Amino acid sequence: MINTPIDVSTTADEMVVAWSDGTRSVHASLWLRDNRPEDRDAHSGQRLVDIADLPTAPRLAGAKIVAGRIEVGWQDGTPVTAYDSAWLQGQLHDAADARPELRPRHWLEGSTIDGRGEFAWSTFAELRSNDALRLRWLTRLIEDGIGFISAVPCVEGAILEASALIGRVAETNYGVLFDVRSVAKPENLAYSDFGLGLHTDNPYRDPVPGFQVLHALVSTPDGGDSLFGDGFALADYLRVTEPAAFELLSRTQVPFLYQSAEAELYSEKPLIQVDAAGRLRAVHYNNRSIAPLHMVPDQLLAFYAAYRRFAQLLRETRFQVRLKLGDGDLVVFDNRRTLHGRTAFSSERHPRHLQGCYLTRDSVLSRAGLLRRGVR
Ligand SMILES: [Fe+2]
Repeated sequence: MINTPIDVSTTADEMVVAWSDGTRSVHASLWLRDNRPEDRDAHSGQRLVDIADLPTAPRLAGAKIVAGRIEVGWQDGTPVTAYDSAWLQGQLHDAADARPELRPRHWLEGSTIDGRGEFAWSTFAELRSNDALRLRWLTRLIEDGIGFISAVPCVEGAILEASALIGRVAETNYGVLFDVRSVAKPENLAYSDFGLGLHTDNPYRDPVPGFQVLHALVSTPDGGDSLFGDGFALADYLRVTEPAAFELLSRTQVPFLYQSAEAELYSEKPLIQVDAAGRLRAVHYNNRSIAPLHMVPDQLLAFYAAYRRFAQLLRETRFQVRLKLGDGDLVVFDNRRTLHGRTAFSSERHPRHLQGCYLTRDSVLSRAGLLRRGVR
């Protein structure tokens, strides 16, 4: 049912609206002044004024409901401003209601999760032909930090067709896409038979790749299983069980370095990043590319202890989802949250070939937002 305004009253400093669902909302005069529709460009909707252009304490002269809109008068002679009541109502909702990136759903005990049953799975054909299904799949990808597509054609480059349904590919020094298979003298241990512990990719970049896509072209029956862990759930577990370790890992800048014939990449960041509100923003963990630490001895030893504790958590199999990507399976995961790894395999006995690429984070969130608005 549409919620409509049924009564409105003002003081000089604020407006109070009573809504048909029985709720009330309070709006400061300065906020109302900052959000006058007239102060936005008619075409782009972008704001034409900034805070320095506004009076510090604009005074309201009154308000009334007219044809579903709320008209507000000003004591300083500014023309009456009409606010669309549906727009005003929309401002009252928690932003997380609309945006899945603001409501991550944590999954700590990975070993209890059936990766084929409890995460989003769709076939490539369904995802391509059904926008409503693609929106549901993308929403779960963003909330869970991981999603899967099956029946992607087992041909080289098909990953790019699948990726185009999800977001925009970010080219790096590894190329538009990269081949994950064993080679002699690999520049990255991903291109070997080694098992790899849980990690995130490329913390030495700025920005760190947002989402990673891996497409299994040739799977191996013997080893090479995929491992995943929820870095946000693990960071929260550390925050609750060992707050001092969490504090250290979220406040210590750590250097990461990658050097090859084509690239020199260096970036510093904490292993656990939180935003100004204390919410988890990213987890960066890659033992292969962490550079030598330079700290005074006391700090160094305290950091090492916290770092070791986090590493121990990542090794606990109870925190890991394990599954085998079959031929044509494709996984997408949030590379700033979901850690990935694999068990060892023997490429001599059974060759294994995946192709991978990275997607910018904002393009994936934008794709979901466009589909919410009904734009293909
Ligand atoms: Fe990796």
